[in-house]
Amino acid sequence: MSKPFKNTYENIRILITGHTGFKGSWLTTWLTYLGADVIGYALKPSTEPNMFEKLGLGKKITNIIGDVRDEKHLNKVFTKYQPEIVFHLAAQPLVKQSYEEPKLTYETNVMGTVNLLEAVRTNGNVKSVVNITSDKCYENKEWVYGYRENDPMGGYDPYSSSKGCSELITSAYRNSFFNPDNYGKIHNTVLATVRAGNVIGGGDWSKDRIITDCINALNNNETICIRNPKATRPWQHVLEPLSGYLWLGALMYNHGVEYSGAWNFGPKEEDINTVESMVKKINKFWGTGDYTVEKDNQQHEAELLKLDISKSNYYLNWKPVYAFDDALKITLDWYRNYYITESDMLAQTIEQINNYTKQAEENGLKWTD
Ligand SMILES: NC(=O)c1ccc[n+]([C@@H]2O[C@H](COP(=O)([O-])OP(=O)(O)OC[C@H]3O[C@@H](n4cnc5c(N)ncnc54)[C@H](O)[C@@H]3O)[C@@H](O)[C@H]2O)c1
Repeated sequence: MSKPFKNTYENIRILITGHTGFKGSWLTTWLTYLGADVIGYALKPSTEPNMFEKLGLGKKITNIIGDVRDEKHLNKVFTKYQPEIVFHLAAQPLVKQSYEEPKLTYETNVMGTVNLLEAVRTNGNVKSVVNITSDKCYENKEWVYGYRENDPMGGYDPYSSSKGCSELITSAYRNSFFNPDNYGKIHNTVLATVRAGNVIGGGDWSKDRIITDCINALNNNETICIRNPKATRPWQHVLEPLSGYLWLGALMYNHGVEYSGAWNFGPKEEDINTVESMVKKINKFWGTGDYTVEKDNQQHEAELLKLDISKSNYYLNWKPVYAFDDALKITLDWYRNYYITESDMLAQTIEQINNYTKQAEENGLKWTD
């Protein structure tokens, strides 16, 4: 197998915010496997169990427990470690919690982004920043077609709008302080934002996420309770958007402003499914299980949400690798290995990364060249 991402990450100093979370743990595993020198900055893991501790990732990186709302601490970390590439994942990422704690959500997701970009601005060493926002950053019009990168930002609930704000902040910093016209003259930093769909994969134990709810119910022989059966979501395996973030980060690092801006990393059109059809498949692939629908769900949630991935496809030669059923099966395999065979989960996770990379290579994706 060739070295993916043009071998960009070997021995490079990378800062990941939110490394103790679900996506952050997968990204940390992948980057350390690629030979990167990873600095993680996040709160302690908030669930028990959690992937970060189960994989022993704290021992593989410089693990800093810190708050993105703490501007001074974050700035000190940048000054001390001088990262070259930054992946910003730290966020309050749950819609339901954002209804309960809107202020915390905005402080973390909005001011956290400002604090991060201020740290980048005052420490000149950073070459690429990939800010992970969400498919929910778009003003949702319940369209049947996918949102494109230049569609307006919006967000009905505090979480979604905080991610729209994070996008607008990044865009303002790009115009004002890291303008592409001044690249190589008065700065050397490229800013991008990335919008992925609803991510599934092993190792997610966050509250109010459908996979976590299903796995907990199946593991305890209980009935799965779903809130919004008809809602369609752009489901994808966690490795899909991560391959996009890593490829984009490498291209920005090696080629500069050509790759700045916003990028969607969603699933294929045919893999956009309703919550109910996903739960039915989970029961089928697990081999047991049943579900009911919660009756008193009062909170607004978007019904239709799709991402148009033509831009990433055309300019980055990025494409999803797994079909929906395969993504689900791989996710369930991870949990089966965890709960039933009690395997070495770091080895299992690396094996899933290798299998994914092999499949991407067979599909001819440029990031594997
Ligand atoms: N999981 C998904 O389906 C999905 C979809 C689209 C976008 N996203 C985005 O991806 C990112 C990661 O999501 P996830 O699913 O891994 O969530 P997660 O809850 O598992 O992880 C969140 C991470 O952010 C950190 N964090 C939270 N508040 C913080 C603070 N004040 N200071 C420092 N760190 C803080 C947590 O410690 C954790 O490491 C988020 O920005 C989220 O909005 C996730």
